Amino acid sequence: MNTIKDCKIIELPKIQDPRGNLSFIEEEKHFPFKIKRAYWIYDVPGGQVRGGHAFKEQHEMIVAISGSLDVAVEDGKNRKVFSLNRSYYGLYIPSGIWRQMENFSTNSLAMVLSSTEFFEEDYIRDYNEFLLRAKEK
Ligand code: TYD
Repeated sequence: MNTIKDCKIIELPKIQDPRGNLSFIEEEKHFPFKIKRAYWIYDVPGGQVRGGHAFKEQHEMIVAISGSLDVAVEDGKNRKVFSLNRSYYGLYIPSGIWRQMENFSTNSLAMVLSSTEFFEEDYIRDYNEFLLRAKEK
């Protein structure tokens, strides 16, 4: 069973250049899965919260390409908040972790790389169900 200790900030390469900086990310090198899907969250009104669910199977990597946001993770016992405020930080989150994206800055752009295609059955959207499952494991 995964815990919040398995959630990790990964510092990505940053190629500094007077013309502007460049960062990149490579599957199975910077994070331990193959990318099946990428999606991104943007135009988030002040104070709004996204996420608020766990995944049964999929792993993910969240990068604040622009601006900043906080990602709160929980494993049923402990909670931790990661601040993503650099374009070269990625947050790896394995399956079975409740995660909520909050505190988005103006013009924040958060990209999520996922190990699976979208399928609703993979979501645990009910917090009490999540707690029950976490206890059973
Ligand atoms: P949802 O996962 O509920 O957003 P949040 O992570 O903030 O809770 O997704 C919102 C809607 O977008 C929902 O109807 C499902 C749809 N969606 C897709 O069709 N494909 C995707 O890859 C994602 C992430 C969401």
